[in-house]
Amino acid sequence: MIRVGLIGHGKAGQAVATVLKQDPRFALRWIARRQGEVGQDNDGVPLLPLARVLTDDWLSAHPVDGVIDFSSRESIHIYGAVARARRWALVSAISAYDDGDLTFAQHLARDIRVLCSPNITIGINFMMVAARLLRQIAPHADVEILEQHFRDKPEVSGTARKLAKQLDLDEDRITSLRLGGIVGHHEVIFGFPYQTVRIVHEAIRREAFGTGAAFAISELLQQPAGFYRFEDLLHQRLHEDLARPVFAAPPGQQKGARRPLEDTVDTAS
Ligand SMILES: NC(=O)c1ccc[n+]([C@@H]2O[C@H](COP(=O)([O-])OP(=O)(O)OC[C@H]3O[C@@H](n4cnc5c(N)ncnc54)[C@H](OP(=O)(O)O)[C@@H]3O)[C@@H](O)[C@H]2O)c1
Repeated sequence: MIRVGLIGHGKAGQAVATVLKQDPRFALRWIARRQGEVGQDNDGVPLLPLARVLTDDWLSAHPVDGVIDFSSRESIHIYGAVARARRWALVSAISAYDDGDLTFAQHLARDIRVLCSPNITIGINFMMVAARLLRQIAPHADVEILEQHFRDKPEVSGTARKLAKQLDLDEDRITSLRLGGIVGHHEVIFGFPYQTVRIVHEAIRREAFGTGAAFAISELLQQPAGFYRFEDLLHQRLHEDLARPVFAAPPGQQKGARRPLEDTVDTAS
């Protein structure tokens, strides 16, 4: 059983707590917030100010293996020293870290396991890995990014911009549609001469952040101290999976031999 502390009990934190409480691999030991009284959430999990959590008394009585942070960018500077002293594995989902915050997180990662992920859903991170792989395999395919969000979202999606950066595309390759109440739709379209590949992600509920955070902390706890991004964990899984034989190789076939890519993918010249 992985003992977890959660920092942040706002819109995202509450959804993450729901997922952690439903997952039998985890024991959610406490939830910290900025202010308020010492109390409990609806399921009896202690809910209290971060300053109160960071006391020897509380942490000795409620030890955790790792902490998930869905609060704000300043918190890591408040709990960082305690995280290092107590050897917490740290999953920070803060989207708005500046360079100084990231430098501090990397400094902590000299001694403990730290993962920073501004977008922590498994789906979006898988999409980035898959799209990068296909872009590498088929650099001549046409590529466009489509993002759709609720009517009042003013800016181009940060996830779409990150996708464009990772695929080495200009941001003018992003098309944004604003319609009704769409939570979040991202699509990378690869146009080949004889086929089209679409990689699509649809956000449904905030609980998806919890699924991603649960994956991240369980994987992080198997790693040595260091600084990680979500895609590092996915790459590691991918490498392990590729190293596993899917079926027995025919006699004489060299282990690890690759088929030419042209066998499987159209290339536009
Ligand atoms: N990586 C991702 O995919 C992802 C997805 C969603 C959100 N996020 C990030 O998660 C964070 C929270 O988002 P949200 O929409 O849930 O915000 P929110 O509704 O405003 O909730 C913020 C929560 O964090 C707590 N908090 C803020 N500063 C704190 C501090 N210094 N010490 C302790 N607790 C503190 C607040 O405490 P009080 O309750 O006492 O006010 C509140 O419970 C944001 O940084 C956002 O960027 C990331």
